[in-house]
Amino acid sequence: MLLQETLELLETDKDEVVADDLKEAVDHGILVSKLAYLLSREMEMDKVFCYAMAQAGIVHDIGKLKLGRFLYKRSENILAVEEMKYIRMHPAIGYEILKKYDYKDNMLHAVYHHHENYDGTGYPDNLKADSIPVGGRILRVCDVYAALISNRRYRPAYDQETAIALMIEEVKNFDMKIFLAFLRVVHTGEFKKVNEFVSYINKEYGLPVH
Ligand SMILES: [Fe+2]
Repeated sequence: MLLQETLELLETDKDEVVADDLKEAVDHGILVSKLAYLLSREMEMDKVFCYAMAQAGIVHDIGKLKLGRFLYKRSENILAVEEMKYIRMHPAIGYEILKKYDYKDNMLHAVYHHHENYDGTGYPDNLKADSIPVGGRILRVCDVYAALISNRRYRPAYDQETAIALMIEEVKNFDMKIFLAFLRVVHTGEFKKVNEFVSYINKEYGLPVH
């Protein structure tokens, strides 16, 4: 059924734009999924929860794909502030798509709350601290790291050290306990596999990692 949703996204006269978005979203999804699984395991969560976070990592931005097409069609005259309003809808749109399927609540809540900041400045609900579901707090850390470490159309990837330094500057956004657990994950031997994947996706886009 999820395949059907994805195919619907591609039914457009601007296939190439959506296909590019989809390609980037798939790589980003795999990376966040790997990180969220390793982080959940480091936090000694049970296997079912770790797997739910791996699922959430894959699809957390699925709402953005739907919105991407919508924004593209209107992008000629749209105001930046209005655009931001639509972008901020993507966690809720993703949740609406996914709730039709047989996912666990903690997975769905992680998707819905993956842009909440620990200090209450995030969206969609401006939740603060431990009122943010733990899955949302886990995805927040993994999503930001994955974005910084990856090439983007508007900038090349940051190296690991710089990415972490940038996250420390914005540490108010994160649950400190979860962020510290993430730093432990980064320093495990197993993280080499994540780095290999990062190198692969970054080289594929033809830009060097600096
Ligand atoms: Fe997102």
